[in-house]
Amino acid sequence: MLSRRQAITRGASLIAALTGSASGFSDAEAGPNNIAAPGPGRRIPYGTCVPWGPLEKDPDFRGLLKTHCQQLTPEGGLIWIDLRPTRDQFNFDFPDAVLAFAEANGITMRGHTLAWYGGMPTWTKEISSAAEAERELATHIERVVARYRGKIKTWHVVNEPIDEVKGKAAGLRPSIWLQYLGDRYIDTAFRLAHQVDPSAELLLNEYNIESTDQSSAPRRQALLTLVRELLARGVPVHGVGLQGHIPGKYQIDGDGLHNFVSEIRSLGLSVHVTELDVIDDDLPGPPSVRDAIVASRAYDFLDAIFAAERPSAVITWGITDRYTWVPTWHKRRDGLINRPLPFDEYYRPKPMWSVVDYFCQKTGLAASR
Ligand code: XIL
Repeated sequence: MLSRRQAITRGASLIAALTGSASGFSDAEAGPNNIAAPGPGRRIPYGTCVPWGPLEKDPDFRGLLKTHCQQLTPEGGLIWIDLRPTRDQFNFDFPDAVLAFAEANGITMRGHTLAWYGGMPTWTKEISSAAEAERELATHIERVVARYRGKIKTWHVVNEPIDEVKGKAAGLRPSIWLQYLGDRYIDTAFRLAHQVDPSAELLLNEYNIESTDQSSAPRRQALLTLVRELLARGVPVHGVGLQGHIPGKYQIDGDGLHNFVSEIRSLGLSVHVTELDVIDDDLPGPPSVRDAIVASRAYDFLDAIFAAERPSAVITWGITDRYTWVPTWHKRRDGLINRPLPFDEYYRPKPMWSVVDYFCQKTGLAASR
């Protein structure tokens, strides 16, 4: 059995072999990350969401971020429930800590998220009129986007706007915003964010549009319709975030995803992979088998996207299996830990990392379609 330190050291040399980078996980060893923004021939920025506790307490975790990430998204922190425990309180400590770490290491921070049905503090249940809802949304966006103006360059403005349905047309997802402001809550959120920071790239962020599960195709269609309507109304939406919480038990609908990304591209919008992980609770137990399936789902997902467009970023929702939200909702019944991410719990690279790194290095489109 390797000690954790030995495992990390071995992981570091494996990573070095894989990426050609200098190994090193300690704060002292890992240098700033100066990889340039994407463009033809440039590496696509890779990143992850970051939980606050490990960022503060785990130097090996910080080392992993410094070695591999060009972008970071606070995991929570900017969602309403974290930021605004009471109506009048804004608590910026967590996102400020991520920003300080990012800036110290030449990394860019992303913003997640301004309007979502989920992650809402209980006091928002007191909202009881359209005027009040609009006032709260406006106060929120003005305050938060202004604080990070010029620093957060990409915002997931509206998160998960499409409803969950099985086998029928999908509409907008119920939320306090939809309830009081109707479908124009999306317009309002984007217009406000754009007013406050005209230089920020503003995304619609959505999940479950890539799989062969029967709910994916109607969700894709609904998202496309929504994007077209927003553009027709002159709403400043600049791109689409594909979360990519891939349900491991389903194959990727490569053609469906490729066609979707082609459509988004033809509308002149960017595409970002914003929250990639592979939900593995229904996959076979043995780690080597599971890791192969996880990597292959990630490959099929990225390949279908890259055949249509080089995304502006590839962000995973966590970087190491040690810190992942997946067991909160998708715990395995066999008691084995979830393995949804590119590095294992000892920070050793898994096949999924080879896949992600391969695509981030790609200078052209994938040729498979
Ligand atoms: C999860 C986070 O990982 C948690 O830390 C948070 O408390 C709740 O949700 N889609 C999203 C993310 O947009 O915000 C979710 O993150 C995962 C699903």
